[in-house]
Amino acid sequence: MEIHNRKELDELIKELDINGPVPDKEPFRQYYFIKKNREYVAKKKEELGRPLTCSVNTFGCQMNVRDSEKLLGILEQMGYEKTDSEDADFVIYNTCTVRENANRKVYGHLGILKHKKKSRPDMIIGLCGCMMQEQEVVETIRTKYKFVDIVFGTHNVYKLAEIYYNRIASGSSVIDIWKDTEMVVEDLPATREYSFKSGVNIMFGCNNFCTYCIVPYVRGRERSRTPEDIIDEVKALAADGVVEVMLLGQNVNSYGKNLPEKVSFAKLLEMVCQVEGIERVRFMTPHPKDLSDELIDVIARNPKVCRHVHLPLQSGSTKILKAMNRHYTKEDYLALVDKIKTRIPDVSITADIIVGFPGETEEDFLDTLDVVEKVRYDTAFTFIYSKRTGTPAAAMENGATKEEINDRYNRLFKRVQEISGEITQTFKGKTLPVLVEGISEQNDGLLTGRLSNNLLVHFEGCESLIGHIVDVTLVECKGFYFIGRLIEDEV
Ligand code: 5AD
Ligand code: SF4
Repeated sequence: MEIHNRKELDELIKELDINGPVPDKEPFRQYYFIKKNREYVAKKKEELGRPLTCSVNTFGCQMNVRDSEKLLGILEQMGYEKTDSEDADFVIYNTCTVRENANRKVYGHLGILKHKKKSRPDMIIGLCGCMMQEQEVVETIRTKYKFVDIVFGTHNVYKLAEIYYNRIASGSSVIDIWKDTEMVVEDLPATREYSFKSGVNIMFGCNNFCTYCIVPYVRGRERSRTPEDIIDEVKALAADGVVEVMLLGQNVNSYGKNLPEKVSFAKLLEMVCQVEGIERVRFMTPHPKDLSDELIDVIARNPKVCRHVHLPLQSGSTKILKAMNRHYTKEDYLALVDKIKTRIPDVSITADIIVGFPGETEEDFLDTLDVVEKVRYDTAFTFIYSKRTGTPAAAMENGATKEEINDRYNRLFKRVQEISGEITQTFKGKTLPVLVEGISEQNDGLLTGRLSNNLLVHFEGCESLIGHIVDVTLVECKGFYFIGRLIEDEV
């Protein structure tokens, strides 16, 4: 069975008998609870004389963004209406725990919600995502934030309707956290943030255990969706007006390893490119340790694959990379970048870089700066190492002082920004295809869009261009973005 759009799903749910026993099989079990909840939501709506609203708030990465689209899809199916206000009847926080400050933000928001709930006891508050996979966090929520109604994790996002039902039926808080799962539940609704582009999960979890990273502990072991399910989803998205997809996985190079019939990520990428209607394909994130020649070849050969490879460096020091369990050296990384740049000349390379990993000396840091000079990243995300309880690095001694680490961070950030600005400048005068994404946030008289290499461009044009790919001349460089001019005959 394949559900390709909301209409088909509506039909299926309409025919479902909710007076009979609860189905065992997914996704039918969730359809059953969606329908049950519809009755409750409709009753509440009548009582209040207004629609019930929901607000899904996302922290963290593209994976969480996609999970939130699924949560919103389920809530809308249950009869909720989306709002951006935290005064909603149902507020969910989809949390991130990759660094400590992401955690802190959630507790800050909970403080505010506690007050709101005092005057509106009917309000439902939900917490989910990576932070909830940590035992101490759940314990804190359970004992100190008793007003939270539902808590679930990364493995059972698909189960929102059932968890919600249990909360309403029992009248008390529901905490449902799974340590890990083998399951991939297909065919649940999702409400996309953009009509013309979408993330597509290709795999879940991570088996790499980089020593600083909490992700393998909160997202579990790697499991891939089948190529058939992925292609069916991409086809359905294309039929629904999507022109750009971003294939999502913690380490996309590991795609397909656990499938009965092994399929490489490169093969999958090629298959996705063949879907009619899809004009751009992005992917996030590859791991430098196993980025294959086959993949570089597929990118080079397929103009639909965006000219952008995000290649997390983390550190430029071979000694630190070893302590991080990254499985490549400084030289391996530089050789890989060279290979990518030679085969795909117009590619943009970006990275994640951490400073202040335990044991990092000034010399190690200079190696990181050296890689930055040699690669000349189009842009890079820079982070100060954050100790995550339960990871191997948490037990490692950090010799550097806070001041030293801050100073390294500032030097790295400055150099990354300078190089990024210089590279951006080189595009001046070029005319390139831009996917129009919306109205500019800074200036509502301008449209905003992205080049294949992810560079942002603002330009004058008609709103009806949103979702279309048009040619734009890059006229004025504004540091990290361009002001462009639309080539009119495209309209
Ligand atoms: N401290 C700082 N940065 C981290 N990242 C992951 N774990 C940590 C940590 N403990 C960064 C890595 C990764 C990105 C998503 O977050 O650079 O690539
Ligand atoms: Fe974390 Fe490393 Fe897995 Fe990325 S590859 S999610 S950094 S453990």
